[in-house]
Amino acid sequence: MTYQHYIDGDWTAGHGGDTFESHNPATRERLGEFPRGTGDDVRDATEAAADAFEEWRSLSYIDRAEYLWEIFHELRDRHQELGEIVTKECGKEISEGRADVTEAWHMVEWAAGNARHPHGDIVPSEIAAKDSYMRRKPRGVVGCITPWNFPVAIPFWHMAVSLVEGNTVVWKPAEQTPWCGQTVAEMFDDTGIPDGVFNLVQGYGDAGAAIVEDDRVDTVLFTGSAEVGHSVARKVADQPGKNTSCEMGGKNAVVVTGNADMDIALHSAVMSSFKTTGQRCVSSERLLVHTDIYDGFKSKFVDHAERVAVGNPLDEETFMGPLVDHEQVEKFHEYAAIARKEGAEVLVDRSELPEREVPDGHEDGHWVGPFVYEIDYDPDLRCIHEEVFGPHVALIEYSGGIDRAIELHNAVDYGLTGAVISEDYREINRFRDRAEVGLAYANLPCIGAEVQLPFGGVKKSGQGAPHAREAIETVTERTAWTVNNSEDIEMAQGLSAEIETRED
Ligand code: UN1
Repeated sequence: MTYQHYIDGDWTAGHGGDTFESHNPATRERLGEFPRGTGDDVRDATEAAADAFEEWRSLSYIDRAEYLWEIFHELRDRHQELGEIVTKECGKEISEGRADVTEAWHMVEWAAGNARHPHGDIVPSEIAAKDSYMRRKPRGVVGCITPWNFPVAIPFWHMAVSLVEGNTVVWKPAEQTPWCGQTVAEMFDDTGIPDGVFNLVQGYGDAGAAIVEDDRVDTVLFTGSAEVGHSVARKVADQPGKNTSCEMGGKNAVVVTGNADMDIALHSAVMSSFKTTGQRCVSSERLLVHTDIYDGFKSKFVDHAERVAVGNPLDEETFMGPLVDHEQVEKFHEYAAIARKEGAEVLVDRSELPEREVPDGHEDGHWVGPFVYEIDYDPDLRCIHEEVFGPHVALIEYSGGIDRAIELHNAVDYGLTGAVISEDYREINRFRDRAEVGLAYANLPCIGAEVQLPFGGVKKSGQGAPHAREAIETVTERTAWTVNNSEDIEMAQGLSAEIETRED
């Protein structure tokens, strides 16, 4: 079956004629064929979105949110079915497939519910007769570029808030998960949302770049790799008046101090490292463990890494599904080789998953298992500085106090998320105050943020948070609005309002 773009309320094959396929990463079964969007398709979509803006912004927040509530119910009603679509297309195990859909309806609930909450502030004036307010206006067309690893949730991080705030949307889903994109677009179509308010262009990075460069796009929300995100931010910086919020990857760490509870440490480290097969931007690829408990932690972590269940992601007993595609498998192997070359002591190597562990009928899947190594900290090592996006985990032993752990923790270019495991509140609070991250956890894995939290990183991990309340900042303009209730004009700052004249 060949699917289509969704532009200006119509399904269309677009201009290009080229198509691409989506495959199940666990089997390589073909899931569908999709049109590869071109600059002309993006132009049609942004034109439609720009034309629809005036009508859409004229609706009340509450009327706009009604369309989103329909989607909220559909996401809930079709939870299992949609969870399976996510799992089949991006390979994460079924509880994660369902959680992706749950996270999507949570964000829709947040954005649509927020329609009934106050927007803006009343701001006092120096002049008693003046009323000042901070009001918000939608910026216009929002271009949304989303990744494959949360193929339903992250699109709603971007789009639910943008739409309720009165913007129109042009969305390009990741090329690995166009079927999820199609499914979401069908939901929008079913709501009867006015033509042009929501547009979907399928395709690759060139279509994403066309969105970023299009004059009609006022705001770009991007979640994905650091490489692409930085180029988006650079291009937007060259276009005065355009705004962006980008959330990128990390080289996240879990710090296990000498005062850690071993069970919590282990549980948090396994979840952070191997959930989603290490393919969350918040997954951890570094475990910084205090020398006092290093040996004990190491043997337990290694034991788990040897045994975590890799398998059919549709099976409820599976912990880790496959990697998303062949490129990710290659990158994973490349970084295992880099780690070895850089002096890693390999502790677990399931990177070439033995045949007996590959589920029947899944021989063509993108299978890997955990790769775990220990290595002495060295600021020049690529394996502990560069993001792999897979179950590639370094154990790094440290000695000294929490400040030494934080120093190692912060010694990467990224700063998305991190966790500290400790029973000592001083260590925990020091980590909270000094770890260079956008999301920080104590005695928890460094994954699993809820939608009402800001989600974004510092340093190379991003700018802004294309998510919930922070996304509102990006997709709206503030107006500082002041009304005079007096017939006289009186100025603040003691500025004279007398118009002095001179008689000749
Ligand atoms: C991602 O890692 O790409 O915090 C998104 C979490 C999820 C979102 C992850 N709520 O783990």
